[in-house]
Amino acid sequence: MPPLLEVKNLQTHFITRSGVARAVDGVTFSLERGQTLGLVGESGSGKSVTCSSIVRLLPKGSGRIVGGEVLFEGRNLLDISENEMRRIRGSQISFVTQDPMTSLNPVYSIGNQMEEPLRYHQGMRNHGQLHAKVVEALTQVGIPSPERRVKDYPHQLSGGQRQRVVTAMAIECQPSLLIADEPTTALDVTVQIQILRLLKDVQKELNLGMILVTHDLSVIARTCDKVAVMYAGRIVEEGPIDEIFARPRHPYTRSLMRAIPQIGRKEDRLYSIPGQPPDVRRLPQGCPFAPRCPDVIDRCTHEAPTEQFFGSNHRARCLRAEEMGAS
Ligand SMILES: Nc1ncnc2c1ncn2[C@@H]1O[C@H](COP(=O)(O)OP(=O)(O)OP(=O)(O)O)[C@@H](O)[C@H]1O
Ligand SMILES: [Mg+2]
Repeated sequence: MPPLLEVKNLQTHFITRSGVARAVDGVTFSLERGQTLGLVGESGSGKSVTCSSIVRLLPKGSGRIVGGEVLFEGRNLLDISENEMRRIRGSQISFVTQDPMTSLNPVYSIGNQMEEPLRYHQGMRNHGQLHAKVVEALTQVGIPSPERRVKDYPHQLSGGQRQRVVTAMAIECQPSLLIADEPTTALDVTVQIQILRLLKDVQKELNLGMILVTHDLSVIARTCDKVAVMYAGRIVEEGPIDEIFARPRHPYTRSLMRAIPQIGRKEDRLYSIPGQPPDVRRLPQGCPFAPRCPDVIDRCTHEAPTEQFFGSNHRARCLRAEEMGAS
């Protein structure tokens, strides 16, 4: 059986007045059912564009997928019609974004909007059945008194409850792939933990494959099986969680780890990676991380690093990856 999702050499560009932005520049990874992949990297590294390219929901106009394949259960989603794609979105593949208000319509009640995917994807028409299904989904995500809540409008819920509702909507048609783009960034820490726990529970129950985008490596450590680190539109390192945390091969991954605040570690100031992420319209020759890299050598500034493999499932795009694992 093919993997649940296989992304091969995906390239997405934005045509802007000041040039072509290579937002996603040859991204390759795969995901099995029941597995969680964490996607991490600084702002602008291409995490969201990777996710929206998979479901073909790029901002209208300038964004274009210019190459690669997105194989979902072996079928290339980049080859199918918009109609077919619409049938897959929200049923087999669900997308949860950072701001629940982008997925919720303020003028419809929660119940009303939650019935929509059931009508569209599953052809459900019976009112009693629809109501029961919505209440069941809200119960599943831990919304208290769901029978009453179905009549509420989005603004009547707290941020955490809205994120739960969006999660309920994402799973009510029983997808096999869930893409969650910073689902908890806007929430306070306790609610964040509850939502992450909820996602993990739902994942186990449905044997979902999940892509979890986050800025936060500690979230990845707690929730994911493997992690892909993105920089300037590319995956610069990927591997199983334990392996990456024990033996990071890319200086960028190492820098991200240094930037995790740790309780009990007293420092004058928190470490932050010096410099700025590169402009993806004007990538430097050689390694895009070279100008900020603590381990840079002369070769890095003119030689583009190719991917090196360590074992069967750990890879890094750094000329010095071999030595990095030793230290
Ligand atoms: N609508 C757009 N028009 C032009 N360029 C865009 C657009 N959206 C994204 N980009 C480009 O794509 C790059 C990647 O953006 P993306 O939103 O994927 O970053 P991200 O990793 O999700 O960042 P964040 O952590 O801030 O969400 C950006 O640096 C930007 O150059
Ligand atoms: Mg983003």
